[in-house]
Amino acid sequence: MQPSTGRDWSFGEWVCNHHGMPVGEPEVLRVGGVSVADAVAATGTPAYVYALDDVEAAYRRVAAAFAPMGAEVLYAVKANGNLAVLRRLAAAGCGFTVVSGGELTRVLAAGPTTGTVVLAGRGTSAEEHALAVRHGAVVHVQSADELAALGRVAAELGRPARVAIRLNPDVEAASPEALRTGHGDAAFGMPPEVAVDALGRMAAGAHPGLVPVGVHVHVGSQIRDPSGVASAVKVALDVIRAGRDAGLDLDWLDAGGGFPVDESGADVPEPEDFAALLAPLVEGTGVRLAVEPGRRLVASAGMLVTSVRHRLDRSHGRTVVVDAGMHHLLRPALYGATHRVVAVGGGSEDVAPTTVVGPCCEPGDVLARAAPLPALAPGDLVAVLDAGAYGMVMASNYNGHPRPAEVVVAGGEATVARRRETWDDLLAWET
Ligand code: LLP
Repeated sequence: MQPSTGRDWSFGEWVCNHHGMPVGEPEVLRVGGVSVADAVAATGTPAYVYALDDVEAAYRRVAAAFAPMGAEVLYAVKANGNLAVLRRLAAAGCGFTVVSGGELTRVLAAGPTTGTVVLAGRGTSAEEHALAVRHGAVVHVQSADELAALGRVAAELGRPARVAIRLNPDVEAASPEALRTGHGDAAFGMPPEVAVDALGRMAAGAHPGLVPVGVHVHVGSQIRDPSGVASAVKVALDVIRAGRDAGLDLDWLDAGGGFPVDESGADVPEPEDFAALLAPLVEGTGVRLAVEPGRRLVASAGMLVTSVRHRLDRSHGRTVVVDAGMHHLLRPALYGATHRVVAVGGGSEDVAPTTVVGPCCEPGDVLARAAPLPALAPGDLVAVLDAGAYGMVMASNYNGHPRPAEVVVAGGEATVARRRETWDDLLAWET
């Protein structure tokens, strides 16, 4: 396996400068050892392409960083639920955290895993609770109401349900505002005193079908400073101690996800930096730590490949319309994310700042502004990099466009993992 750079795309012999821009002789863009053009030959575009070796390498890197403290890695399926991705991670021993019955169904379809599976949704339904309990998943509840609802489901099924409490630790994480979930105002989890109260009631015999195992915190995504996670873990340990004092046998501490990937190529804290801060906190406490990375395992392993449809004739610089847009990769429009966009066929002639827009009839359908691209013509392939997380899972059929295909590359071979949708598919759900 290659060393884990977290970036399996390359320009063949090109050397990338620290901005990720190629210098030197151009070659064609490759992913997982396969030329990107070959990878999408069977599906056409738009298509997401994921390098599975890179996904596994990223998992192994996080697992190794946290192994000294015996922590378990649970992949956050919301980042990318493709079955081939889940299968590869399950085979490597990764656990999973899901937020819905739909995601849990995917994990079950992907096949057996030796790792822990957690259902940690918000507004989880009785059907979703029941599916989790039947399959022995740990359920993370966010409110006293949800705890009672889960208790009823466990009683009806006559099966014990392992439960952990999602805390709101009131910690301000260094993550973009739209992705912050740990401050007091965030509508996630219980304040510590409510959690302690809930644990106390369980210790006193309320909800006899529930088996309390511990607590869960997740303070945000794209966390640029690991100290926010450390603060949340300290609050979680206090709650675990209070629960133990009440007589419960608690040992589960899920510290959440949020390990960052900068789409523009800037340096960010690595999993080892998070592990170094958490290790001394959990040492000697007898808790089993878990972490839930989504983005860090899949973002850099994936790209969205799209074709130039037309060049737009504008007075304000070079603009191309491609066949993927905000409905296929929402992150630039929704969060202002700057993903690097490169020409698949290389080309260093006539490079100029280029606006890359999608086919949606909305001014906000812009995939990239001022991307340094060579002169492009209709049919040329372009790749949006670091698009393996929160890409396809957030795609829609807006403007009546079918969603992209998904291709996986493993062992130097590209396989269609999900075919591109058709116009007929768009009608399939209506009576
Ligand atoms: N655990 C919980 C409870 C979560 O809510 C999340 C993400 C994760 C783990 C995984 O976080 P990660 O390691 O991927 O940062 N759509 C946004 C990201 C939303 C994240 C939501 N929760 C984006 O495209 O940036």
